[in-house]
Amino acid sequence: MPDEPSSASGASRAAGGSCPDTGPGTGAASILFVGDLVGSIGRRTLLECLPLLRERYDPTFVVVNAENVAGGLGITPKGARALFAGGVDAITLGNHAYHRREIYPYLDEEPRILRPVNFLRIQPGHGTCVVERDGLRLGVVNLSGNLYLRAGRHAFTEIETALGELGEVDHILVDMHAEATSEKVALGWMLDGRVTAVVGTHTHIPTADARVLPGGTAYITDVGMTGPRGGVIGVKREQAIESLQTQMPVRFETSEDDPWLMGVLISCSATPRSAAAIEQVLMPRPQAPPRAIPSLPDR
Ligand SMILES: [Fe+2]
Ligand SMILES: [Fe+2]
Repeated sequence: MPDEPSSASGASRAAGGSCPDTGPGTGAASILFVGDLVGSIGRRTLLECLPLLRERYDPTFVVVNAENVAGGLGITPKGARALFAGGVDAITLGNHAYHRREIYPYLDEEPRILRPVNFLRIQPGHGTCVVERDGLRLGVVNLSGNLYLRAGRHAFTEIETALGELGEVDHILVDMHAEATSEKVALGWMLDGRVTAVVGTHTHIPTADARVLPGGTAYITDVGMTGPRGGVIGVKREQAIESLQTQMPVRFETSEDDPWLMGVLISCSATPRSAAAIEQVLMPRPQAPPRAIPSLPDR
């Protein structure tokens, strides 16, 4: 588990890059990518943190992984619409993409929600999209690892097809949803210099290796999750511990304890498809203002 941020503001800066004239707040494009939203608490945490993050970083694009937003598993059309209404530009998913059947037609209809591009072609949905803001075009690719995860086609070959299908874009963000760190690191190196960022998701635990690779691609092995830090990767901790202690089936529920937003801010370079900096954004859900205590009537 990451320690609490050292800065008084609640957000921590874990890694930066060169090119100070293209950093946040200077008018250059930037991408806020937020890791797996877990449950309604994850959605609320995102939507309550977003105004503060917009004020602080003014991101051009906001992309979130929301494969766990429907009660911890999957996503519904209603949940996706709530995120788009809150200002999210694109949604990525992962191995839980198909947990809720009602999302299947929506995955075909809505261009801005992605399931991994290397799933089988017969499965609902698509794995790439292009979103546009401020005259800039961002290509987004969702990819699944093949180690310990079920993806019908190979990530390292299908990414080539996906990049070719994006067409003319200014920047490209790849969400590599994978269990194995080796696959994510290898993909980062393979795409270095060809895409703006490769960000890892799925483990729900943020890694401390955010950096801009030598060719100009921002990289992190795992962004972490947005949801209850007081649970076990989203589940109530007492249930996860009981399951591991007894080796018996236990009904899992989403924890609501200690919600945090975990993401990264990628500052794009003026050079197409390259990044100037990447920094981690780790932030607790804003505290609700204290309720006024009604005064007792005078007697
Ligand atoms: Fe996952
Ligand atoms: Fe997840």
